[in-house]
Amino acid sequence: MLFTTLCGFLAVGSTWAQSSTVDAYVSTESPLAKAGLLANIGPSGSKSSGALSGIVIASPSSVNPDYLYTWTRDSALVFQTIIDQFTLGLDTTLRGEIDNYVGAQAIIQQVSNPSGTITTGGLGEPKFNIDETAFTGAWGRPQRDGPALRSNALITWANYLLSEDNNTYVTNTLWPIIQNDLNYVAENWNQSTYDLWEEVDSSSFFTTAVQHRSLRQGVQLANAIGQTSVVSSWTTQAGNLLCFLQSFWNTAGYITANTGGGRSGKDANTVLASIHTFDAAAGCDALTFQPCSDVALSNLLTYVDAFRTVYSINSGIAENTGVATGRYPEDSYQGGNPWYLTTLAVAEQLYDSLIVWNAQGSLNVTSLSLPFFQLFDSSVVVGTYASSTSTFTTITTGVQDYADAFVEVVAKYTPSDGELSEQYSKTDGSQLSAVDLTWSYASALTAFDARAGISPASWGAKGLTSTCGISTGGGGGGGTVAVTFNVDATTVFGENIYICGSVDALQNWDPDTALLLSSADYPIWSITVNLPASTDIQYKYVRIDGSSITWESDPNMEITTPASGSFIENDTWR
Ligand code: NOJ
Ligand code: NOJ
Repeated sequence: MLFTTLCGFLAVGSTWAQSSTVDAYVSTESPLAKAGLLANIGPSGSKSSGALSGIVIASPSSVNPDYLYTWTRDSALVFQTIIDQFTLGLDTTLRGEIDNYVGAQAIIQQVSNPSGTITTGGLGEPKFNIDETAFTGAWGRPQRDGPALRSNALITWANYLLSEDNNTYVTNTLWPIIQNDLNYVAENWNQSTYDLWEEVDSSSFFTTAVQHRSLRQGVQLANAIGQTSVVSSWTTQAGNLLCFLQSFWNTAGYITANTGGGRSGKDANTVLASIHTFDAAAGCDALTFQPCSDVALSNLLTYVDAFRTVYSINSGIAENTGVATGRYPEDSYQGGNPWYLTTLAVAEQLYDSLIVWNAQGSLNVTSLSLPFFQLFDSSVVVGTYASSTSTFTTITTGVQDYADAFVEVVAKYTPSDGELSEQYSKTDGSQLSAVDLTWSYASALTAFDARAGISPASWGAKGLTSTCGISTGGGGGGGTVAVTFNVDATTVFGENIYICGSVDALQNWDPDTALLLSSADYPIWSITVNLPASTDIQYKYVRIDGSSITWESDPNMEITTPASGSFIENDTWR
């Protein structure tokens, strides 16, 4: 199946006019990036002396910045790349590295650290020493994307092993690690987290998106190996995550990266989320912000254009051409320069889009994505264009060139030895900050694979629907009204506030399916539900921590809904 897909895409790809500069860069940089990546993995990587087996160092740089640690996020993204390459048949030499990674993560998970023990929050610890001991200095902790990214990589590996009939290893070795991570995700996703840049403590789009993916994949794996006890709670929390994911969209036409932070919110966070939750089977689905969805393309354009004026190396470059991009335009870390991995992420999102448009034989222009498509065809209008149309050809050729232009920027600022640091100078393109950043190498390999038309395995994004806590009122023939419940409730780590009550839309008093409130305005928890109009409705808030359920004290609360319009109910937990 994977190979059919691959060959199909390559056949299509060969008809595209691809930049010869980029062709040349890809062929020289691919082996150098692979070697650079492997040099940073213990026990035998040539630049990672002291790193234990399967431990990925972020960079060999030990001063300004000191990156000689192992981050759960960086390591998982690096091993997602390695596991994809092995399981897609692109590099059959990597199996030993994968086994080492599994062994290292089984150990690291159990290391007590400043975030806690394995059962009290320790899985959210962002980084460890390279000898697998805890890092005890001050840091932005917890970072809750790590367990999700690690389980995504390990589940990709597990699915491959199941296809090889190696169920025993999956069940005995991989499943316990995955289950630890996913229970953590299911129980803690609604708690605040530092973002992937380790700066903003709030909720983060990237974290939410990869957490959502992780639970969906986890449910599939659990079903495949008969570990069904987790299925119901993980499915419920995946639904809640998908709902919450929608709230990051803002009407200015882009995704706000974090709920906190006080910045524009334009951030590579969102582009990275799109490529790391790409599922070609889901087409251009907007609910999961697939790379070619109108929301993700509008977001990409907004993100890219935010960098045209902040870096002088971008000056004079035309609007429909690629530029250097960084983490976010307000960034000042290590000089606040462009990053290789963010510039390559833009290219990868565009290559992923081309994969889907070519596979489905059409592309769709909506009013939201129109400004993006107008970069390539100023006369294009809203509509669906089949691959037989000249509009499709004009646009896909333009997108290919635009994507290649981002890689050309990276190529231009890559030294001849192929080494990729973290940043390159916004004024002259020379390398800055951490040298040999392992994640930079991984980002080159995944962008190159996407350019070749290769997509990673599906994770179940296809066909998801979301009601986002808005259920329709039950029967009665009458209309419904939107009722917002706000409750002031102080919670402790692990607790969340839910509501249930006397009508279908409030789950008929079933606490197991009670509706989760959002804590975005903590300590006010909030939800809007469509309820039957002109009806007496009883309800209670429920405090849930794992399997422990605490109801509010008696008597039940009661409202009478209005005949039409909306209604706001403000309560205090009792
Ligand atoms: C929001 C969380 O979801 C809640 O559980 C926590 O108590 C508060 N933030 C305070 O950290
Ligand atoms: C800083 C980056 O912002 C963070 O995402 C990364 O995990 C560490 N450096 C290590 O590479």
